[in-house]
Amino acid sequence: MDLFNLQGRVAVITGGYGVLGASMAHSLAECGVHVAIVGRKSEKGEPLAAELSQSGAEAIFCKADVLDREALVAAREAIVAKWGHIDILINAAGGNMPGATIMPDQSFLDIDFSAFGGVMNLNLMGTVIPTVVFGEQMAAQKSGSIINISSMTAQSVVTRVVGYSASKAAIDNFTRWMAVEMAKKVGEGVRVNAIAPGFFITEQNRTLMTNPDGSLSDRAKDVVRATPFGRLGQAEELHGAVIFYASDASKFVTGTVLPVDGGFNIFSGV
Ligand SMILES: NC(=O)c1ccc[n+]([C@@H]2O[C@H](COP(=O)([O-])OP(=O)(O)OC[C@H]3O[C@@H](n4cnc5c(N)ncnc54)[C@H](O)[C@@H]3O)[C@@H](O)[C@H]2O)c1
Repeated sequence: MDLFNLQGRVAVITGGYGVLGASMAHSLAECGVHVAIVGRKSEKGEPLAAELSQSGAEAIFCKADVLDREALVAAREAIVAKWGHIDILINAAGGNMPGATIMPDQSFLDIDFSAFGGVMNLNLMGTVIPTVVFGEQMAAQKSGSIINISSMTAQSVVTRVVGYSASKAAIDNFTRWMAVEMAKKVGEGVRVNAIAPGFFITEQNRTLMTNPDGSLSDRAKDVVRATPFGRLGQAEELHGAVIFYASDASKFVTGTVLPVDGGFNIFSGV
């Protein structure tokens, strides 16, 4: 038996046309997984679904905001009507938001409560609501793997990104809570884990991590110095963790948060 075999399984990826989500979608499609991309913009989701369909698996786009329960229920119904089951949910929608970051010349006194609440809502509720909606189908099947996307900012303090960090710490806690809830109420067939990526340049952090000419910002250089591998991550370096959690290779694993970070979280910087 191939422990990592995912052929014929069905994955839902929120934020599926984001940089990390799309990379994960390609990786799963290459493993023979049918993929439903969930996002707000058809003009981004439809072409990606068409592209994924060329790798042998099937793919569709479902238009839904992760904070909109009704739209997610409609997406779930369309997916189950097409493929009959949902085996994998990756909660990859999210990120930081303009206004929620403390600028270098600001302090805690400048925390914008509305922006802090907005980023908490997007990342935490944007994970909780899809987990409930797609988890309902998994509970009915008594099988499925939910993969949340945490961050290094949940475990170690990263300056400036106060709301984002709080929201990702809450995702770690929700991952553990939901893992126990599923195990106790549904059984061991439904597992809930999280991946905590280190630092990857994507749309949501490009202005913090790069200068206008594309070179690394001083902040990105600080991150690289604090990473034993001495570099930022590449999106495809998350694929192994996704395939592990999605497949039977992790059959006895639930409630964990796996860092994929070049050693950032275990290094004091000295
Ligand atoms: N890039 C990094 O270094 C890094 C590190 C750790 C964690 N993460 C996390 O990885 C995940 C993916 O982010 P990314 O880096 O690929 O950034 P990204 O901006 O490329 O992708 C995020 C996607 O989420 C979508 N999204 C945002 N709000 C949404 C909503 N309300 N409904 C539906 N979709 C919505 C965006 O449209 C975008 O496609 C995020 O949760 C992010 O916080 C990223």
